[in-house]
Amino acid sequence: MSERVPVVVGIETSCDETGVGIVQGDTLLANVIASSMDQHARFGGVVPEVAARAHLEALPQVMDDALKQAGLDRADIDAVAVTSGPGLAGALMVGVGWAKGLAQSLDVPFYAVNHLVGHVGVELLSSEGRQLDTPTVALLVSGGHTSLLLVRDIVDDVEGVGDTIDDAAGEAFDKVGRLLGLPYPGGPQIDRVAKDGDPTRYTFPRGLTQAKDQDKHRFNFSFSGLKTAVARWWEANGDPTDHQMVADVAASFQEAVVDVLVTKALDACEYHGVPRLVLGGGVSANSRLREVALARGAERNIDVRIPPLALCTDNGAMIASLASEMLRRGRPATSMSVAATSTLSPSVTQAGVDEGAIHTAQKSTTDHSNDSVSVTDDDVSALAGKEDTLRKVRTPWTPLLSLLFGVLAVALSPAFGLGMIPAVLGIISGHRARKHPRGRVQSAMGLTLSYFALAVSIAVAVVVATPIIRALLISGGFLLP
Ligand code: KG4
Ligand code: ZN
Repeated sequence: MSERVPVVVGIETSCDETGVGIVQGDTLLANVIASSMDQHARFGGVVPEVAARAHLEALPQVMDDALKQAGLDRADIDAVAVTSGPGLAGALMVGVGWAKGLAQSLDVPFYAVNHLVGHVGVELLSSEGRQLDTPTVALLVSGGHTSLLLVRDIVDDVEGVGDTIDDAAGEAFDKVGRLLGLPYPGGPQIDRVAKDGDPTRYTFPRGLTQAKDQDKHRFNFSFSGLKTAVARWWEANGDPTDHQMVADVAASFQEAVVDVLVTKALDACEYHGVPRLVLGGGVSANSRLREVALARGAERNIDVRIPPLALCTDNGAMIASLASEMLRRGRPATSMSVAATSTLSPSVTQAGVDEGAIHTAQKSTTDHSNDSVSVTDDDVSALAGKEDTLRKVRTPWTPLLSLLFGVLAVALSPAFGLGMIPAVLGIISGHRARKHPRGRVQSAMGLTLSYFALAVSIAVAVVVATPIIRALLISGGFLLP
């Protein structure tokens, strides 16, 4: 009797998408994604802390939905896989912790895999008409990464050959979108408005494409100069009410991004003698990128493959698919002591296993530290004034007020009842100020004095009022003298 093909669950929480995918061999059984994008919209970029909390809240439901979609229950799971990096540290930790708990409770193997390589893992899903021919170059473009990978073998030999040295491509789309007054995320909006624009109307810079860059940065990307150039131009000439101008700027900016992405990706294919290119990441939804990549690829005899959108954006199916291949090849499971790593190199396809078990290809020279942070200090300062969204630590006045009321209450407490009023005010402001990072001592003193004064005031009031009430009751005939 043949053994059942293992069912692998993949959990993805590296950025703002909570994804759970279920794969059996190379067959996709379920792919459920919940996004916290709405919660980040008002900040104009992904806020790591908000994303981490959203994953924690969404995971149980996404997991249940995925099992339902696959027609399985937990007992059918044979292995659990998770993205352990690169990505946002806090967001990754939620997924890694969750996946470890699930694997341990089910007593099944646990695989911690590389997110970037996972994007290429989609090509292993033959049930979706995908086919991974290797070697291949992969261009992964999203709000968090812009990477070029040379994949000689998806499990054993992946090399990072290029990366962004500043902003990710999607980040540039989102920032320029915000500049042009378009809703977040800017990428799909720019794609939409650019359809009516003239991409040749303005010439914006193509980062790291000059002769001097060819030595060190031949396959690296830079979008921050482009973003600044568009911002400067817009500040000097922009008119948000001129729809044609918005469309032309959007189209010209998009053309600059697409031109650099496609040129460098196809150059990398030729340089490494690889006739294939796989696209992945949210930006590969861009209609102009798809069009230009396919057309220029055909001109240069390079087969360009673009997965369907649900498998391009971050998802759990790609993680399950990659782990399924590892399992099929008998790769050892990951140690439970593995930690989330925001800067995992693409050459580490699986984290937390004996280094000797992995054929580490030439180590990537690029730094992924930018991948993990989508909101920069610039972005935060751009939000200045929106105190409702970003609370600053202000000069504390509530703790001082509570101290003041406390002192006043103590001073007035011997006078009949008068101390009660400042004491109550001192207690209210003291409680409000208690959590203030800079006023804990003052508010604790204010609260102590106020409670003390309240007790004294009540005691004084009782002592003074008792004989008066007693006299009134006697004169009214309610009480015998
Ligand atoms: O892969 P993804 O869903 O999430 C991560 O960032 O990890 O990618 C989201 C990014 C956003 O920056 C978004 O603006 C961009 O992909 N994006 C696009 C398009 N659709 C999404 N950028 C350009 N054109 C699009 N059609
Ligand atoms: Zn991604």
